[in-house]
Amino acid sequence: MSREPADLGAIRPRTMDFRFDEIPRHWLAGLAVPTAMANALNLVFPMGERFFVRSVRHYFEQIEEPTLRAQVKGFFGQEGRHAHEHERFFAVMEAQGIEIQGFLRLYERIAYKGLERLFGAKMGLSVTVALEHYTALMAENALNDGLIGQAHPSLRALLAWHAAEEIEHKAVAFDVLKAVDPRYSVRAAGMVMATITLLGFWALGTAMLLRQEPDLSLREGLRQFVAMQRRYPVARRVFGRGIREYLRPSFHPWQNNNLAMARDYLASVGQAVA
Ligand SMILES: [Fe+2]
Ligand SMILES: [Fe+2]
Repeated sequence: MSREPADLGAIRPRTMDFRFDEIPRHWLAGLAVPTAMANALNLVFPMGERFFVRSVRHYFEQIEEPTLRAQVKGFFGQEGRHAHEHERFFAVMEAQGIEIQGFLRLYERIAYKGLERLFGAKMGLSVTVALEHYTALMAENALNDGLIGQAHPSLRALLAWHAAEEIEHKAVAFDVLKAVDPRYSVRAAGMVMATITLLGFWALGTAMLLRQEPDLSLREGLRQFVAMQRRYPVARRVFGRGIREYLRPSFHPWQNNNLAMARDYLASVGQAVA
């Protein structure tokens, strides 16, 4: 039985028109560390979202429920556009003189040519479901806590649109896994793998970017990190809360019904639901 909000309606991709002109190098709060952390996430998103699509597509023929099949198609469309828009930002980073290809090659080799092939389709789907839980929590924070209010307006628009759609489709991959293999052990194993790989690649990407900030001392970098965590405790709100919620055997993403937050944002930028 579906547990989604009655007013969810159709999940559909939206065409946006983001302009990335004149983005300052430190576009988040004017600081190197928050920007590097956000840029690192931006680097892992496109390949990650294409992996989500591949993982769910692998099981598409096994999904019988028409509503879920339609939602999966909407999910493919949304994730495909997210990947595309975030990838467009790669060119901006490179134009700023930031080297990103070394990290991207390493990330692809380990995560997708390595781990994805090694662990197989079922684990891929389970990891996708867990990462969708994390992205939904990041999305709620992004729309809630004001950090993206300190971003350059173009990036703020990109992140808020992405956040709103992540909330809309947050249960799609979960419901697919539930239909394909509802075992708790499968879901929990995916959470372990998702947590290790997300934290690992996020940290690696951030370190690679911060190495390219010659004027940033270790002391100043740590000061920025601690100050940001105090004000916006992402680690606690995403990973602490995320693991606690997800490991409840009865967990379902829509137990936290925050759809209105997403829809209010989308309506505010002229993207009301059809
Ligand atoms: Fe996405
Ligand atoms: Fe997503």
